[in-house]
Order: sequence, then structure tokens, then C-alpha cells
Amino acid sequence: MSANLEKEAVSMASFAHGFRRQMFNGVPPIPEAIDLAGKTVLVTGSNIGLGLECARHFLRLRASRLVMAVRSLAKGEAAAAGLRDEFPGADIKVWELDMASFRSVQAFVARCERELPRGGRVDAAVLNAGLGMFGFERVAEGRRRETMLQVNYLATALLAILLLPRMKPATPSEGPGRLTLIGSDAALTAALPDPGEDEGTGLLDSVDRAEGFAGFAQYGVTKLLLTMFVARLASESVGAGDVVVNVANPGPTWGTELVAKTGPLAARLFTGVMFRVLGRSPADAARIYVHSNQVLGRESHGSYTEWLVRAWPPMMYTEEGRRLGERLWDETMRELSFAKVEEVLEDLKR
Ligand SMILES: NC(=O)c1ccc[n+]([C@@H]2O[C@H](COP(=O)([O-])OP(=O)(O)OC[C@H]3O[C@@H](n4cnc5c(N)ncnc54)[C@H](OP(=O)(O)O)[C@@H]3O)[C@@H](O)[C@H]2O)c1
Repeated sequence: MSANLEKEAVSMASFAHGFRRQMFNGVPPIPEAIDLAGKTVLVTGSNIGLGLECARHFLRLRASRLVMAVRSLAKGEAAAAGLRDEFPGADIKVWELDMASFRSVQAFVARCERELPRGGRVDAAVLNAGLGMFGFERVAEGRRRETMLQVNYLATALLAILLLPRMKPATPSEGPGRLTLIGSDAALTAALPDPGEDEGTGLLDSVDRAEGFAGFAQYGVTKLLLTMFVARLASESVGAGDVVVNVANPGPTWGTELVAKTGPLAARLFTGVMFRVLGRSPADAARIYVHSNQVLGRESHGSYTEWLVRAWPPMMYTEEGRRLGERLWDETMRELSFAKVEEVLEDLKR
């Protein structure tokens, strides 16, 4: 578990370690024994990039039903058409999910409950949808949070919590659900502003400011928040016997649209070249998702993972990191209270 890897955290977060891993360590193949026949798998943001490759890996592992959760049905259907040709035996559904909207997240989970067989059971889910933005923008809904904070962190946390009851096994023979959220190397060195003890200034508010906004730093912050959230979720709220929850880091990956959609041309060219040199292919990187989700077991619960369990970002082992982690949890519960998230988590323990 990442909780036991404090001694390795600083070296694992170093550029040298990341460089060596990217350049010289291939992602191992997925063991052939893994068989998802009869299972329902869900991947968010699966019309393109890593999400689409993850969906393809799951279908190669014979998943019977795939839910592609996408914000554009047209793009989702175009991607699904290719997968349906490749895997004619699978039931591939394309359902709308816009992570910029909490209402969309709630409607999506309600649809899972209504329309998926076995009481809406989801056996495995990879919450991959995410974005990197250069400029400061706010979503249109609710407290109008900054877009990456909303999509990469808040809506992903909400979706994870609401899916948990659908993933908990109804009978012991079903085995625990497998839930993987997607992190990033950028979380390893991200710094959180300390909002101090003043209750009036929230941690979430302190990372929701247009002044001094820097897109890459904010991206790392949102992925750090997600990693802290999963650690707390797994340690206090959900047992690994019910749902194994972890955060997978694909590492730099070329050929996706993560930085291609926004930002100045020079920045896109720079990251494009850097990712080509350092990065993995989407198919290789998505194999990391499948390792985290299907190959690693209870030892990965609450952890930061690749094809093995790695240390959390170093700040999470510090006193300040622990204090901010508690604060983040409390604020997240308050922010998502409209969806009765604390009751959902309490019910899960019954
Ligand atoms: N590529 C890398 O080097 C790298 C490294 C570390 C971590 N990651 C993480 O890996 C994940 C996938 O990234 P990628 O590189 O495959 O990028 P990508 O090609 O841009 O794919 C991102 C996916 O997320 C979807 N998405 C974005 N905003 C959304 C929203 N509001 N609601 C629903 N879906 C939304 C996109 O949908 P649209 O197509 O409709 O925009 C797309 O399907 C992200 O979480 C990213 O942070 C990537």
C-alpha cells in the first residue's frame, strides 16, 4: 500500500525516477487469465485517448458490457462504431456524462441503476475523463468552480461515491468492485496553498482563484486533491472487500488530446514534442489503467498505482499533508452534500 511507502516517496517523485521509468520500463502485458466475461465495465471519457484504449483493453479481456460515458454522444458513437466492429459480441452502450455538471453526474448514475442488469451492478469502472487547461474558466453550474477543479476533482469524487453502492458485491461470489481514478505525475510535486485555520477561507476556495492562475500547476493540484481524496475514502469509508479503489498514473502519453485542445500554439508544440520523446503510446499507457483496475488487488486500496503500487506524493506523508487531507475531506463532503454523499457512504458500511 502507498501508506507504507513513505521512505520511497521523495525519490519516486523525482524527475530522474520518472524519466528512467518512462524511457526504460515497459508496461507489462495483462495476464491472460483475467477474464471479464459476464461483467459490466464503465469508462468515462472513452471516446478518445487513454479512455478509448482502456475500453478496448477491457473488451479484449472479454467484458460482456461496456458503458462509454462521454460528454458528446456523436463522438462517443463514432468511437463505439469502431469497437463494435472489433468486438461484435459485446454490448456497447454510449451514455451522456458531462463532468462539468453535477446534475449530469447524478443523472448518469441514476441511469446506471435503472438500465444496467443485476440491479445496476458495475463490476469495474475507470474514471478517466479529465482535462488540462491553460486559461482560467468557470463551469456554468452550482458554485461555478474553476473547470479543472470541477471536472478533474469534484465531479470525479462525486461520481466515485455515487457509483460505490452499484459496485459493492451483492453476494460473496461476485467479488469486490474495482474502481480506478486517474491521477498524474503532475500531482507528485504539486503544492497546495495553506488556507490556515480560518474557517472562512476554504482549501477548495484557495485553489479556485483567477489571480495568479497557472494552468499546469492547477492541473497538478486537481490530481493531488484526487489522490488525497482516494486515500481518505479507502482508509475510512469503503473496505477493500467491497470495492478496491485506487488512483492510476498513466505517465506522459503521446497522441491524446489532453493538451491539444486549448492553449497557445507554442505550449502545445512544446508539450507535443516532449510527450513524443518521453511519452508512451495510448495503448501502453492504458494498460497501466487495466493493471491498476484488474491486476492489482487489495494491496492497492487507497494507493497511487502504475502496474505496481507506488508512494503517494511526498506531501501526503507530512503532518501538514495529513491536516490538509482531513480538511479537504470535510470540505468535499460539504460541497457534495446536495447529493447526500455522507449518507451514501454510511449506507455502504451496512
Ligand atoms: N496524456 C497524458 O500524458 C496524461 C498523463 C497523465 C494523466 N493523464 C490523464 O489521463 C486522462 C485521459 O487523458 P487523455 O490524455 O486521454 O486526454 P484526452 O484525449 O483529451 O481525453 C480526455 C477525455 O476526457 C473527456 N472529458 C473532458 N472534459 C470532460 C467533461 N467535462 N465531461 C466528460 N468528459 C470530459 C474528453 O471528452 P471530449 O473528447 O468530449 O473532450 C475525452 O474523452 C485524464 O484524466 C488525464 O488527466 C493523461
